[in-house]
Amino acid sequence: MDNKSWDSLAADYDKSVEDNQNPLIINYLKKEIEILHTLCQKHSDSHKNFSIIDMGAGTGRVVFALDKKLRNESIEFLGVENSDTMLDCANQKNISHDGLSEITFLKYDLTDSNLPRYFELKNSNIVMCSYNTLGVVPSDKRLNFINNMKTIAGKNGLVILTMFNGDDFGFVAPKLYRSMIPMIKQIDDDSFDETNRVFHNSIGFRSQWFTKNEIKSILGTSLEPIPIDVTVDDKCFTFGNVFVNVVA
Ligand SMILES: C[S@@+](CC[C@H](N)C(=O)[O-])C[C@H]1O[C@@H](n2cnc3c(N)ncnc32)[C@H](O)[C@@H]1O
Repeated sequence: MDNKSWDSLAADYDKSVEDNQNPLIINYLKKEIEILHTLCQKHSDSHKNFSIIDMGAGTGRVVFALDKKLRNESIEFLGVENSDTMLDCANQKNISHDGLSEITFLKYDLTDSNLPRYFELKNSNIVMCSYNTLGVVPSDKRLNFINNMKTIAGKNGLVILTMFNGDDFGFVAPKLYRSMIPMIKQIDDDSFDETNRVFHNSIGFRSQWFTKNEIKSILGTSLEPIPIDVTVDDKCFTFGNVFVNVVA
Protein backbone atom coordinates (compact mmCIF):
# COMPACT_ATOMS: atom_id res chain seq x y z
CA MET A 1 0.00 0.00 0.00
CA ASP A 2 1.32 3.48 -0.80
CA ASN A 3 1.08 6.60 1.39
CA LYS A 4 -1.86 7.93 -0.69
CA SER A 5 -3.89 4.89 0.40
CA TRP A 6 -3.02 5.55 4.05
CA ASP A 7 -3.92 9.25 3.59
CA SER A 8 -7.47 8.24 2.78
CA LEU A 9 -7.68 5.90 5.82
CA ALA A 10 -6.34 8.36 8.40
CA ALA A 11 -9.65 10.04 9.28
CA ASP A 12 -11.14 6.67 10.28
CA TYR A 13 -8.02 5.04 11.67
CA ASP A 14 -8.62 5.88 15.34
CA LYS A 15 -12.29 4.80 15.09
CA SER A 16 -11.07 1.36 14.06
CA VAL A 17 -8.11 1.11 16.41
CA GLU A 18 -7.62 3.07 19.63
CA ASP A 19 -11.19 4.40 19.89
CA ASN A 20 -12.75 1.09 18.83
CA GLN A 21 -15.25 -0.04 21.50
CA ASN A 22 -15.22 -3.69 20.48
CA PRO A 23 -13.91 -5.66 23.52
CA LEU A 24 -11.71 -7.74 21.24
CA ILE A 25 -9.79 -4.70 19.97
CA ILE A 26 -9.78 -3.03 23.42
CA ASN A 27 -8.25 -6.15 25.02
CA TYR A 28 -5.78 -6.70 22.18
CA LEU A 29 -4.44 -3.12 22.37
CA LYS A 30 -4.32 -3.15 26.17
CA LYS A 31 -2.28 -6.36 26.22
CA GLU A 32 0.02 -5.14 23.44
CA ILE A 33 0.78 -1.84 25.22
CA GLU A 34 1.38 -3.69 28.53
CA ILE A 35 3.99 -5.91 26.83
CA LEU A 36 5.66 -2.94 25.09
CA HIS A 37 5.67 -1.00 28.36
CA THR A 38 7.36 -3.87 30.24
CA LEU A 39 10.04 -4.19 27.54
CA CYS A 40 10.72 -0.43 27.51
CA GLN A 41 10.75 -0.20 31.31
CA LYS A 42 13.30 -3.04 31.57
CA HIS A 43 15.47 -1.39 28.91
CA SER A 44 15.34 1.97 30.69
CA ASP A 45 16.42 0.33 33.97
CA SER A 46 19.76 -0.55 32.38
CA HIS A 47 20.25 2.07 29.64
CA LYS A 48 20.32 5.85 29.67
CA ASN A 49 20.19 8.39 26.85
CA PHE A 50 18.12 6.44 24.35
CA SER A 51 15.15 7.21 22.13
CA ILE A 52 12.03 5.19 21.46
CA ILE A 53 11.30 5.30 17.75
CA ASP A 54 7.99 4.07 16.35
CA MET A 55 8.19 3.13 12.68
CA GLY A 56 4.89 3.65 10.85
CA ALA A 57 3.57 5.57 13.84
CA GLY A 58 0.16 6.32 12.27
CA THR A 59 -1.72 8.78 14.48
CA GLY A 60 0.71 8.21 17.37
CA ARG A 61 -1.20 5.60 19.38
CA VAL A 62 1.86 3.72 20.64
CA VAL A 63 4.16 6.65 21.47
CA PHE A 64 1.43 8.54 23.35
CA ALA A 65 0.46 5.44 25.36
CA LEU A 66 4.07 4.56 26.23
CA ASP A 67 4.94 8.12 27.26
CA LYS A 68 1.96 8.12 29.65
CA LYS A 69 3.01 4.78 31.17
CA LEU A 70 6.77 5.31 31.34
CA ARG A 71 6.65 8.88 32.65
CA ASN A 72 10.37 9.32 32.11
CA GLU A 73 11.26 12.73 30.75
CA SER A 74 14.75 11.64 29.72
CA ILE A 75 13.30 9.42 26.99
CA GLU A 76 12.79 11.10 23.62
CA PHE A 77 10.00 9.68 21.43
CA LEU A 78 10.05 9.83 17.64
CA GLY A 79 7.25 8.67 15.36
CA VAL A 80 8.16 8.02 11.73
CA GLU A 81 5.39 8.14 9.14
CA ASN A 82 5.04 9.02 5.46
CA SER A 83 1.32 9.75 5.21
CA ASP A 84 0.68 13.49 5.53
CA THR A 85 -2.82 12.92 6.82
CA MET A 86 -1.67 10.47 9.51
CA LEU A 87 1.03 12.98 10.47
CA ASP A 88 -1.53 15.81 10.69
CA CYS A 89 -3.67 13.71 13.08
CA ALA A 90 -0.62 12.76 15.17
CA ASN A 91 0.59 16.37 15.43
CA GLN A 92 -2.91 17.54 16.36
CA LYS A 93 -3.11 14.95 19.16
CA ASN A 94 0.39 15.91 20.32
CA ILE A 95 -0.83 19.45 21.14
CA SER A 96 -3.23 18.16 23.81
CA HIS A 97 -1.16 15.13 24.88
CA ASP A 98 -0.48 15.21 28.58
CA GLY A 99 2.86 13.45 28.98
CA LEU A 100 6.37 14.06 30.22
CA SER A 101 8.60 13.38 27.23
CA GLU A 102 9.26 15.23 24.04
CA ILE A 103 7.41 13.58 21.15
CA THR A 104 8.25 14.44 17.55
CA PHE A 105 6.74 13.07 14.35
CA LEU A 106 8.95 12.88 11.29
CA LYS A 107 8.03 12.37 7.66
CA TYR A 108 10.25 9.65 6.18
CA ASP A 109 9.86 6.46 4.17
CA LEU A 110 10.72 3.50 6.43
CA THR A 111 12.19 1.60 3.50
CA ASP A 112 14.56 4.35 2.29
CA SER A 113 18.08 2.93 2.60
CA ASN A 114 19.30 6.41 3.64
CA LEU A 115 16.90 6.50 6.62
CA PRO A 116 19.55 5.94 9.35
CA ARG A 117 21.34 9.12 8.17
CA TYR A 118 18.43 11.23 9.39
CA PHE A 119 18.76 10.00 12.98
CA GLU A 120 21.22 10.81 15.70
CA LEU A 121 22.69 7.33 16.11
CA LYS A 122 22.64 6.56 19.81
CA ASN A 123 23.77 3.05 20.69
CA SER A 124 20.79 1.73 22.63
CA ASN A 125 17.60 2.97 20.99
CA ILE A 126 14.36 1.02 21.01
CA VAL A 127 13.00 0.85 17.46
CA MET A 128 9.53 -0.61 17.20
CA CYS A 129 6.84 -1.22 14.65
CA SER A 130 3.33 -2.32 15.58
CA TYR A 131 -0.06 -3.50 14.34
CA ASN A 132 1.28 -5.69 11.54
CA THR A 133 2.85 -2.73 9.74
CA LEU A 134 5.55 -4.99 8.25
CA GLY A 135 2.69 -6.69 6.37
CA VAL A 136 1.86 -3.50 4.44
CA VAL A 137 5.46 -2.96 3.34
CA PRO A 138 6.07 -4.34 -0.21
CA SER A 139 8.00 -7.63 -0.10
CA ASP A 140 11.01 -6.28 -2.06
CA LYS A 141 11.46 -3.49 0.53
CA ARG A 142 11.09 -5.53 3.72
CA LEU A 143 14.76 -6.25 4.14
CA ASN A 144 15.68 -2.55 3.83
CA PHE A 145 13.07 -1.77 6.44
CA ILE A 146 14.37 -4.36 8.95
CA ASN A 147 17.98 -3.32 8.31
CA ASN A 148 17.02 0.31 8.95
CA MET A 149 15.41 -0.68 12.25
CA LYS A 150 18.55 -2.55 13.36
CA THR A 151 20.93 0.25 12.34
CA ILE A 152 18.85 2.95 14.06
CA ALA A 153 18.56 0.81 17.22
CA GLY A 154 22.34 0.80 17.59
CA LYS A 155 24.64 -1.89 18.91
CA ASN A 156 22.96 -2.21 22.32
CA GLY A 157 19.48 -1.44 21.06
CA LEU A 158 16.24 -3.35 20.78
CA VAL A 159 14.13 -3.99 17.70
CA ILE A 160 10.50 -4.83 18.47
CA LEU A 161 7.86 -5.97 15.99
CA THR A 162 4.21 -6.48 16.87
CA MET A 163 2.54 -8.71 14.32
CA PHE A 164 -0.88 -10.36 13.91
CA ASN A 165 -0.84 -14.14 14.36
CA GLY A 166 -0.34 -15.58 10.87
CA ASP A 167 -0.21 -19.13 12.26
CA ASP A 168 -3.94 -18.79 12.93
CA PHE A 169 -4.92 -16.50 10.02
CA GLY A 170 -8.17 -18.39 9.26
CA PHE A 171 -9.57 -17.72 12.74
CA VAL A 172 -7.94 -14.45 13.78
CA ALA A 173 -8.11 -12.40 10.55
CA PRO A 174 -11.93 -12.41 10.17
CA LYS A 175 -12.36 -11.57 13.85
CA LEU A 176 -9.93 -8.62 13.66
CA TYR A 177 -10.95 -7.17 10.30
CA ARG A 178 -14.70 -7.50 10.89
CA SER A 179 -14.07 -5.34 13.98
CA MET A 180 -12.25 -2.66 11.96
CA ILE A 181 -14.74 -1.80 9.20
CA PRO A 182 -14.40 2.04 9.53
CA MET A 183 -10.77 1.73 8.46
CA ILE A 184 -10.79 -1.12 5.92
CA LYS A 185 -14.20 0.07 4.62
CA GLN A 186 -15.16 -3.17 2.92
CA ILE A 187 -14.74 -6.94 3.04
CA ASP A 188 -15.19 -8.77 -0.28
CA ASP A 189 -16.01 -12.46 -0.88
CA ASP A 190 -12.34 -13.14 -1.63
CA SER A 191 -10.83 -10.79 1.01
CA PHE A 192 -9.39 -13.57 3.19
CA ASP A 193 -6.70 -15.34 1.15
CA GLU A 194 -5.82 -18.17 3.55
CA THR A 195 -3.28 -19.75 1.20
CA ASN A 196 -1.05 -16.68 1.13
CA ARG A 197 -2.25 -15.29 4.47
CA VAL A 198 -3.22 -11.97 2.93
CA PHE A 199 -6.21 -9.76 3.70
CA HIS A 200 -7.07 -7.50 0.76
CA ASN A 201 -10.07 -5.71 -0.67
CA SER A 202 -10.99 -4.20 -4.01
CA ILE A 203 -10.50 -0.64 -2.77
CA GLY A 204 -6.79 -1.15 -2.19
CA PHE A 205 -6.29 -2.27 1.42
CA ARG A 206 -3.75 -5.09 1.61
CA SER A 207 -1.94 -6.63 4.55
CA GLN A 208 0.15 -9.78 4.58
CA TRP A 209 0.41 -11.93 7.69
CA PHE A 210 3.39 -14.07 8.66
CA THR A 211 3.99 -17.20 10.71
CA LYS A 212 6.04 -17.01 13.88
CA ASN A 213 8.95 -18.77 12.18
CA GLU A 214 8.87 -16.41 9.19
CA ILE A 215 9.17 -13.37 11.46
CA LYS A 216 11.93 -14.95 13.54
CA SER A 217 13.82 -15.57 10.32
CA ILE A 218 13.17 -12.05 8.89
CA LEU A 219 14.34 -10.51 12.18
CA GLY A 220 17.25 -12.92 12.59
CA THR A 221 16.27 -13.91 16.14
CA SER A 222 15.85 -17.25 17.86
CA LEU A 223 13.88 -15.68 20.74
CA GLU A 224 10.30 -16.85 21.09
CA PRO A 225 7.81 -13.97 20.80
CA ILE A 226 5.56 -12.80 23.63
CA PRO A 227 1.96 -13.73 22.76
CA ILE A 228 -0.85 -11.17 22.70
CA ASP A 229 -3.60 -13.40 24.08
CA VAL A 230 -7.24 -12.34 23.98
CA THR A 231 -10.20 -14.17 25.46
CA VAL A 232 -13.13 -14.81 23.10
CA ASP A 233 -16.20 -16.72 24.36
CA ASP A 234 -14.30 -17.72 27.51
CA LYS A 235 -11.43 -19.23 25.50
CA CYS A 236 -8.02 -17.69 25.14
CA PHE A 237 -6.57 -17.20 21.63
CA THR A 238 -3.28 -15.73 20.46
CA PHE A 239 -4.21 -12.78 18.24
CA GLY A 240 -0.72 -11.38 17.82
CA ASN A 241 2.88 -11.68 18.94
CA VAL A 242 5.53 -9.24 20.07
CA PHE A 243 8.91 -10.19 18.60
CA VAL A 244 12.11 -8.84 20.10
CA ASN A 245 15.56 -8.74 18.60
CA VAL A 246 18.39 -7.75 20.88
CA VAL A 247 20.78 -6.18 18.35
CA ALA A 248 24.02 -6.83 20.28
C1 LIG B 1 -1.21 -0.41 10.38
S1 LIG B 1 -0.79 1.28 10.54
C2 LIG B 1 -0.04 1.24 12.15
C3 LIG B 1 -0.13 2.54 12.89
C4 LIG B 1 0.37 2.52 14.33
N1 LIG B 1 1.74 2.02 14.41
C5 LIG B 1 -0.51 1.69 15.25
O1 LIG B 1 -0.03 0.68 15.75
O2 LIG B 1 -1.66 2.06 15.49
C6 LIG B 1 0.60 1.38 9.46
C7 LIG B 1 1.19 2.77 9.32
O3 LIG B 1 2.46 2.67 8.64
C8 LIG B 1 2.58 3.72 7.72
N2 LIG B 1 3.50 3.28 6.64
C9 LIG B 1 3.31 2.25 5.79
N3 LIG B 1 4.36 2.14 4.95
C10 LIG B 1 5.22 3.16 5.27
C11 LIG B 1 6.48 3.58 4.77
N4 LIG B 1 7.06 2.94 3.75
N5 LIG B 1 7.07 4.64 5.35
C12 LIG B 1 6.49 5.31 6.40
N6 LIG B 1 5.30 4.94 6.93
C13 LIG B 1 4.67 3.88 6.37
C14 LIG B 1 1.17 3.97 7.22
O4 LIG B 1 1.02 5.27 6.67
C15 LIG B 1 0.34 3.72 8.49
O5 LIG B 1 0.13 4.92 9.20
